[in-house]
Amino acid sequence: MNTVHLKNITDISLNDKKIFLRCDLNVPFDDNKVLLDDTRINNIVPTIQYLLQKNAKVIIASHFGRPNGEYKEELSLKKLIPYLEEYLKVKVIFIKDILSENSIARANDLKNGEIILLENLRFYKEEQSNDMQFGQKLSQYADIYINDAFSCCHREHASIDAITQFLPSYAGLLLVNELKNLNDAFSKNTRPQILIIGGKKISTKIRILEHLANKIDKVFIAGAMVNNFLKALGYEIGTSFYEVDYVEHAKNIYEKYKEKIILPNDFVGKNENNKLFIKDISDILAGDCMLDIGSSSCQKLCDSIKNSKIVIWNGPIGFYEEQQFAVSSLYIARSIAYHTQKNNIISVIGGGDAVAAVKLSGLQDCFSYISTGGGAFLELLEKGDLIGFKNLKSKET
Ligand code: 3PG
Repeated sequence: MNTVHLKNITDISLNDKKIFLRCDLNVPFDDNKVLLDDTRINNIVPTIQYLLQKNAKVIIASHFGRPNGEYKEELSLKKLIPYLEEYLKVKVIFIKDILSENSIARANDLKNGEIILLENLRFYKEEQSNDMQFGQKLSQYADIYINDAFSCCHREHASIDAITQFLPSYAGLLLVNELKNLNDAFSKNTRPQILIIGGKKISTKIRILEHLANKIDKVFIAGAMVNNFLKALGYEIGTSFYEVDYVEHAKNIYEKYKEKIILPNDFVGKNENNKLFIKDISDILAGDCMLDIGSSSCQKLCDSIKNSKIVIWNGPIGFYEEQQFAVSSLYIARSIAYHTQKNNIISVIGGGDAVAAVKLSGLQDCFSYISTGGGAFLELLEKGDLIGFKNLKSKET
């Protein structure tokens, strides 16, 4: 991976400056609006505290979910106010109408101990189309733009890209830290490397998967994604989730990289009567739904982990949200943690679900690095750069 260096906020004067701070507040809530994982909020606290200590005025902006340019109450960022107030110990002023002149003027009146939170940027279609005028409008809130949303840096959106045309732009503390750790892990070209890639939809990762299969020594495919490969190889996968349009593509990838690709060979799931089963792949029946990998597959993966120097994990292995299908994720987390501690392998995890699965094991502190990025993490691994870095780079890059 190329080594990219970003302009750091610690190198500039922030006194009395208005800061447009792009964060990733796309955090999981349950149906009762209770926050399920506060990692992303916790991670931006140091940057915001730093800015406040330096007497800057902070305007926080983020997206939440995928409203596709429409206002949707359930995707409003308003529900983040109590959490931000609790974690930051400041008063949060919420701005609903981002584009009004009054809202923009409000940023000038911010007092000590107050910050602004803007409404979900994706309520405006111009955000996702990277509209220059929208980027310019956003820039009117501030004197300086700071990107602390590593997990969004692969998105060519107005608050990531267009706005940087109009303001001096810098990376926040979290972004700098992410890049440093991922550079440290990936620029050494230490081998052998194994990628464990899971998750539900192959459609969202197939391009990156193909690219990484070419670069990395071993690729273990899990989650519902693997069903496309099993289907392509002619196995019965029962009622398990797969994407019909991607089976042929999965077959081509497998044909090209079969020396490197490791597929699970046994599964845990539920049959048509909702009874739990543990079976080899060749015994799966038409009414079976596979929801986790079995012990033989776990063993196979653990052997590969043991023989690797770098382990990269993105996407959950099984349907970890249900206890009986979280077993493989816990088992694999334990194996990676053990080899990280004992044999000094480098272990890096990215993606909300994989991280949540590792947190279930309680072993997150035993890994080399846990990234806040999912798609961004994989794309950085693939390309060595991200669109969001374009106007944040320092001269030495
Ligand atoms: C994430 O959750 O990975 C980031 O917030 C990016 O969200 P997106 O995939 O909807 O762009």
